[in-house]
Amino acid sequence: VRGVPAEACAGRVDDWRPGERRTVRLGRVPAVVVRVGDRFCALVDRCPHQGAPLSAGLVTGTTLPAAVGEHPWDREGEIIKCPWHGWEFDLLTGRSLCDPRRERVRVLATEVRDGRVYVRTGAAGHSPR
Ligand code: FES
Repeated sequence: VRGVPAEACAGRVDDWRPGERRTVRLGRVPAVVVRVGDRFCALVDRCPHQGAPLSAGLVTGTTLPAAVGEHPWDREGEIIKCPWHGWEFDLLTGRSLCDPRRERVRVLATEVRDGRVYVRTGAAGHSPR
């Protein structure tokens, strides 16, 4: 996109705690970056429902489909929940958990370079540390 910087730095890798989130801007595009295990995941920080900043939401897990009466908890730290109406998004794919084919947040590429985390527009991908 014209006028949007190619990348923004989200700090030194060693300063990130597990599960920590930060925000950066790529020009006018706000991004939320979350450390998921040893990966750094970045999404555009705007909920596709009504535009809430996802960075103000909870980083959490979800219950998996299972037999009646069972609700196994999984994927801790891989889901972000919108602070306004509770829609949940997969931090790895940007897809909504309840309607993954129609609702999604744009995923931004991350890269670890020279000990720092960078977020980029363009092709998505999550870089390992
Ligand atoms: S604005 Fe995110 S669920 Fe409504």
